[in-house]
Amino acid sequence: MTALIEEINRRRTFGIISHPDAGKTTLTEKLLLFGGAIQEAGAVKNNKIKKAATSDFMEIERQRGISVSTSVLAFEYQRVKINILDTPGHKDFAEDTYRTLTAVDSVILVIDVAKGVEEQTEKLVKVCRMRKIPIIVFINKMDREGKEAFDLMDELEQKLKLRITPLSFPIGMGYEFKGIYNLWEKNINLFTGDKKKEINNTIKIFSLDDTKLNKLIGNNSNKKLKEEIELVHGIYEEFDEELFLEGNLQPVFFGSALYNFGIKELLDCFIEIAPSPLPKTTDRRLVKPDEDKFSGFVFKIHANMDPKHRDRLAFVKIVSGIFKRNTPYLHVRHNKKIKFSSPNTFFAEKKRIVDFSYPGDIVGLHDNGNFKIGDTLTEGEKINYKGIPSFSPEHFRYINNADPMKGKQLQKGIDQLMDEGVAQLFTLELNGRKIIGTVGVLQYEVIQYRLEHEYGAKCTYENLNIYKAVWINIKNSNNEELKEFLRLKQRFLAKDKNGKLIFLADSKFSLKIAKEKFKSITFELSSEF
Ligand code: G4P
Repeated sequence: MTALIEEINRRRTFGIISHPDAGKTTLTEKLLLFGGAIQEAGAVKNNKIKKAATSDFMEIERQRGISVSTSVLAFEYQRVKINILDTPGHKDFAEDTYRTLTAVDSVILVIDVAKGVEEQTEKLVKVCRMRKIPIIVFINKMDREGKEAFDLMDELEQKLKLRITPLSFPIGMGYEFKGIYNLWEKNINLFTGDKKKEINNTIKIFSLDDTKLNKLIGNNSNKKLKEEIELVHGIYEEFDEELFLEGNLQPVFFGSALYNFGIKELLDCFIEIAPSPLPKTTDRRLVKPDEDKFSGFVFKIHANMDPKHRDRLAFVKIVSGIFKRNTPYLHVRHNKKIKFSSPNTFFAEKKRIVDFSYPGDIVGLHDNGNFKIGDTLTEGEKINYKGIPSFSPEHFRYINNADPMKGKQLQKGIDQLMDEGVAQLFTLELNGRKIIGTVGVLQYEVIQYRLEHEYGAKCTYENLNIYKAVWINIKNSNNEELKEFLRLKQRFLAKDKNGKLIFLADSKFSLKIAKEKFKSITFELSSEF
């Protein structure tokens, strides 16, 4: 086996997704703790990691208690290099999460035992299912009273359309939570007394028939557990790795991130079954990770890590070959070679300069405005990675310059923020007015704040009643019909940042009518067609 293949095989790059407050941060921290990457519990909760990866403007989100930083946390566990791509849970930043999902090879979905499947979970899982990303489910907070395990699993099947099979099972819940039966390794881990905080303080039992079990968890719990495990075997199919990797079967784990319970079961199984870096499609061909030549794409741009310098960090997922420091790579969109003297790698909460990186890894490249989300880097081949589409925003507002002396700064600020994917910019065909489209209203504040603090520009907004921005696909359109459409809808036409034509439909009804009337034109809900 070549060194490259060895490196690829030992990498796992994944994202943790959840509704806010389900325990994503706590789980992340505990995974790092098990990996020996951090020494103390509470590092994440004390906001150390968040802070290190959070730039100044995010103070406003921090104050709101929402984590918007999508950082990379890497660590090694049993010789496996694990890259966790953090995703913001808040729905206003959903677009950020969708883009991060283009860079992961699998996903751990965290569910709160008391709340079950929540709104944000449904949306995120839908995107994973569309992309056929393998999902592992972790049901968290078993130390609290919540829904019964079987009811929760029904909910996963019905609301999320998952086909599930449990690989661990809880013994009791809430005050009665005693431990975890590991169906994957066929053993049991029990809490000892009330020392729930001690990571190593668990008792292992290797069979349900072990007489010690009766003593430890009591006759009733023991009987109930046996019945439940029988039921599990009766209802759910055996775990099948192939189905899981195709995104067609989702294993479920139970535990308590706060009390370190069920985490080791999850992690040990994860490193065995989760996929190593996968091939990825471009506009020309499929690229395999073990190809000699380096290629990768930008899936996130993180602004102003250091507020004194207006620098940005472009996060590049390496798809193939080895990324080497100080080597010129082709920026395909600009058709220009660039070399990077201080690419960053991420280890636990720290950034470091790296000489070589392998497929599955994320490198952070310092950028002063060259990159935008979706850009491809190669050793010379002109290919573009696909799969980072824009979707119609939910909110639309005119943006106005509030300080005539700072027009240039405003322009530059807007351009750069759009390249980062903070929001989408549309320019009206009729009069050149600029419209900002966002997924959530929170982004308008973020933009205003950042324009002022980073670019010295001031803006105001003006409400605009738009239902959806749809991309106009005229590939098969009839000339006469197109002319008529452009004439009639003049007031509602705009260009997106890439110059693609957009129809700003002011209501569901007007979109429906347009579709019926102009049959040769296709109205696309995403920019990728
Ligand atoms: P998030 O990143 O998904 O938003 O969730 P986070 O980990 O921040 O957890 C949200 C809250 O749930 C935190 O409580 C956290 O301590 C708690 N939590 C996480 N995992 C478990 C668990 O397994 N059991 C229990 N009982 N609680 C859990 P908080 O009160 O908001 O914060 P803090 O005061 O504990 O810092």
